[in-house]
Amino acid sequence: MSDIAASRTATPESRLVASLGDRSIVLVGMMGAGKSTIGRRLSARLRLPFVDADAEIELAHAGMTIAEIFASYGEPYFRDGEARVIARLLDGGPAVIATGGGAFMREDTRGRIRGKAVSIWLKADADVIMRRVKRRADRPLLQTADPAATVGRLIGEREPIYQQADLTILSREVPHEKIVDECTEALHIRLCGERAEAPPDKATPDKMSVTP
Ligand code: S3P
Repeated sequence: MSDIAASRTATPESRLVASLGDRSIVLVGMMGAGKSTIGRRLSARLRLPFVDADAEIELAHAGMTIAEIFASYGEPYFRDGEARVIARLLDGGPAVIATGGGAFMREDTRGRIRGKAVSIWLKADADVIMRRVKRRADRPLLQTADPAATVGRLIGEREPIYQQADLTILSREVPHEKIVDECTEALHIRLCGERAEAPPDKATPDKMSVTP
């Protein structure tokens, strides 16, 4: 089969993965934005491995939780470990990588992600985040007198940085598969220069909520 014929029979997902090469897909955004939930489903859709950076850090600490690592060694130690873990994961691509909410704030990590991955900011508003993080008490940064105020402050500090991700997808209360569809579509446009459903020669990118 010719290359052109092969590209017409390949699925949109396989074309996307082929264009990715060794690069990974990295999900960034606030706690509760759905990075792990969406990342796991996106990896299944694309048949790529899924890795959760927080889980890798816990593994590297003999199963200590993130909260225990913060409590025993402090946040700067955690951040250095997090940067190292993400650097290692990026060298092992392609994969779908969910990062912790603070990881993208480091310039060195952002640079590595830019070089070795396509990044997606899962953007969630404060109400959605609060509803989701309330269910679990395992986020050390939210053990404050007023977690809603803390979330508001973190959003204010972090959104200008998250905006530097390659793509932005609005995380909201819709079925997870819809968010995965939107991620796949945005990745397809970015990597293949065309919408996923359109035949390769008729495709025209249009007005999705995707940053250039
Ligand atoms: C953090 C987010 C957490 C975890 C740690 C710090 C942050 O990950 O890395 O508690 O700084 O926003 P999730 O975003 O997966 O909750």
